[in-house]
Amino acid sequence: MFDFKLFKKNKNSQARLGEITTDHGKIETPIFMPVGTQATVKAMSSRELKEIGSQIILGNTYHLYLRPGDDLIAKAGGLHKFMNWDRPILTDSGGFQVFSLANLREIEEEGVYFQSHLDGSKHFISPEKSMQIQKNLGSDIVMAFDECPPYPAEKEYVEKSLNRTLRWAERCKKEMETARGQALFGIIQGGVYPELRKQSVEETTKFDFPGYSIGGLSVGEPKEEMYKMLDYTTPLMPEDKPRYLMGVGTPEDLIEGIYHGIDMFDCVMPTRIARHGQIFTHQGRKTIRNATYKEDFSPLDSECDCHVCQNYSRGYVRHLLKRNEILGVRLTTYHNLYFMLKFSEEIRQAIKDDRFIDFREEFYDKYELK
Ligand code: GUN
Ligand code: ZN
Repeated sequence: MFDFKLFKKNKNSQARLGEITTDHGKIETPIFMPVGTQATVKAMSSRELKEIGSQIILGNTYHLYLRPGDDLIAKAGGLHKFMNWDRPILTDSGGFQVFSLANLREIEEEGVYFQSHLDGSKHFISPEKSMQIQKNLGSDIVMAFDECPPYPAEKEYVEKSLNRTLRWAERCKKEMETARGQALFGIIQGGVYPELRKQSVEETTKFDFPGYSIGGLSVGEPKEEMYKMLDYTTPLMPEDKPRYLMGVGTPEDLIEGIYHGIDMFDCVMPTRIARHGQIFTHQGRKTIRNATYKEDFSPLDSECDCHVCQNYSRGYVRHLLKRNEILGVRLTTYHNLYFMLKFSEEIRQAIKDDRFIDFREEFYDKYELK
């Protein structure tokens, strides 16, 4: 089963409060989804993910198909069982990773031929194949197989690409007809061209998918450009379906995305920067690895009530990171994900209390943008 309820709309913005129901439980929106590319959110056990309040996590078709193989995961009883995660999972289709990671790609109407970025072995993923892999994974939310054009790209190319993505969407829908308990989301493309975004929304929504993603953003375009596209695109999208902005973002991107009516986000950034010794605080991002923090025995973020901030100091975590101790990245990852989840929760509360615009102002007053 799959259901989306819209509880409330903000008066002075497009921010919305809602709830998605899946076979593996409910998801309150707006929501941040931690990324678990390789059937693991790097450095986090499923027990810890629950402890910090993760409601849904992401998996990747491209990576899991290559290693350990979706057949093996199906044998294990599906991705939920394999990785011991009993809450909702969303899987991306490979339609982004094939373009950003694989080598020697050849895009044909049928699908994409490519060589693995791991060992150069040859593979082919079509819309049908991507759906079959995601059926084997057993994710609750499945992404259509799309092409994410690079930035910058000529309008003619983006138009051609988006029309192919539409034909692929139809094939994905057909292939998923036999799937039970998996909701297929369509993906809006169109680069930074308003007319193409409009065309993509109009054509994609004709398939009446249970949810829609906005793809092809945060691929190197200036932030202003991304916000402009959101400003233009979300008002064209159906109100009664969840909207997912793919591969975005930072705390400020969450605020702006939600302002423009986005319900779901995912990004590797919080976990990736954690492994490089960077943390979120209410004052902005800090590189805890720096010498400045050597004798700083205060919490990572004095306004954070996570397990790490309640029990460990910046100086200690810096020491662990400098020594390449495993615990160092576990603690920074834990805190950064907690920060994003707590932030989403605070935003939901602010929408509930009709003070989202004030919350946004207060955030920018304190948070130093880099
Ligand atoms: N992740 C970030 N952007 C995209 C996109 O455009 N398509 C897909 N499938 N995944 C993404
Ligand atoms: Zn913390």
